[in-house]
Amino acid sequence: MSRSTPSQLARRRWLGIAGTVAAQAALPIPQIFASTRVWGANDRPGIGFIGTGGRAGAHIEICLKLKEQGRCDTTAVCDVYRPRVEAAAARTGGKIYRDYRELLADRGVDLVCIATPDRHHAPQALTAVRAGKDVYVEKPLTHWSQMELAAELGDEAERLKRIVQVGTQYVADEAYAKARELIGQGIVGKIVHVQLGYFRRGDWGERMPIPDPNAKPGPDLDWEQFLGDAPKVAFDVSRFFQWRLYWDYAGGPATDLLVHVFTPVFCLLELGYPERVLGGGGTFQYAREVPDQCNIIADYPGGPSVVMSNSLSNYTGIQTILRGTDGAIVLGDGNHPGPGIRIVPVAKDSQEVVIPWSGFDRTEKLWENFLECVQTRNRPFSPVDIGVRVQAPLNMGILSHREGKVARFDSVARKIVLE
Ligand SMILES: NC(=O)c1ccc[n+]([C@@H]2O[C@H](COP(=O)([O-])OP(=O)(O)OC[C@H]3O[C@@H](n4cnc5c(N)ncnc54)[C@H](O)[C@@H]3O)[C@@H](O)[C@H]2O)c1
Repeated sequence: MSRSTPSQLARRRWLGIAGTVAAQAALPIPQIFASTRVWGANDRPGIGFIGTGGRAGAHIEICLKLKEQGRCDTTAVCDVYRPRVEAAAARTGGKIYRDYRELLADRGVDLVCIATPDRHHAPQALTAVRAGKDVYVEKPLTHWSQMELAAELGDEAERLKRIVQVGTQYVADEAYAKARELIGQGIVGKIVHVQLGYFRRGDWGERMPIPDPNAKPGPDLDWEQFLGDAPKVAFDVSRFFQWRLYWDYAGGPATDLLVHVFTPVFCLLELGYPERVLGGGGTFQYAREVPDQCNIIADYPGGPSVVMSNSLSNYTGIQTILRGTDGAIVLGDGNHPGPGIRIVPVAKDSQEVVIPWSGFDRTEKLWENFLECVQTRNRPFSPVDIGVRVQAPLNMGILSHREGKVARFDSVARKIVLE
């Protein structure tokens, strides 16, 4: 953890993904200009679903309800696995695509919902914003190896004025904005320490079903597209259906779970990038590549020091607490929200303030907010610039854990440096 000497600095390992970015830039971008359409209250934006697996099922259910209310249309569906895309088409009435770039060229698609494995999120979202679409993209914003892509997506969404909602539904609540105002007025002083955690029991990757153990690459299953820019390996039925178990496609609890409880911190505080991050943990309980216990410490310049913790051993959780010089902000844990955002003063004669939640774990509310923002062009609950800043320490924690080094962030180049 000591400061680097000049020679160490010279030997810094820059974790670029130049190859990935170059490969991405070479993808054919559909020739559609950014929409300048002004949405009327009775207009129904057409939604295209990219990835029609487990999570997309929840999105489709919500969007079908919103469609019934006349708020959107379900225009198109895309997946590299034919049985799933056909089932989604039957449910939604959407046109079938097997390549997301073809779906993006469909003029009936105004918005996309991206619910593919992690490493496709940023490449597909980038292509979508460049094709003039607004985007609901599942968390995590990127795979742990793709920090530059996250930053590029943030820049492009801003430049092209696209609405990008990152799928962290715990932040779909007005309580954050109210608490943020009070924190800005100094109600708890300067925030110097943050703790948060997400705890569960079970190897959730293992629980991903293998619907067809005999599935093979061919007309029904596009293995090349599943791999995308991941290392080219021979087809493996578990990698395809249970991708969460493997480093090539997933990052374990940091990007799967901690992202949910970390994002709210950014809705409360103006946090940039950490100056150093340490990642610990390991695979101590289940047979899988990615860790089943994960701890990350992220120190921000001048504070706070953020301690994130996870275990897949049991549900006993810890509350999210932001500790300030004059009091604390207390939220629930990943599974129990508590009564609302509690503001607990240090001074004994001061009263605790509770800002109640309007709900918990509300994907439906995140969708309603997304559709509203598509019309109003207002900032959504879970905007991409927060997604980029959330992603940095998570990726750094994973890299630190994997390489046994301290991760630092070069905030000018927005790159991760391991020392
Ligand atoms: N916000 C939440 O609470 C929440 C919950 C569950 C999952 N998720 C996220 O949703 C994403 C999907 O998770 P899941 O559980 O639905 O996985 P899944 O494997 O069930 O679904 C992913 C689908 O994407 C398809 N796919 C793979 N590569 C593709 C490509 N290049 N183009 C088009 N389709 C492709 C697969 O065939 C599969 O049908 C993950 O990133 C996960 O983190 C979020």
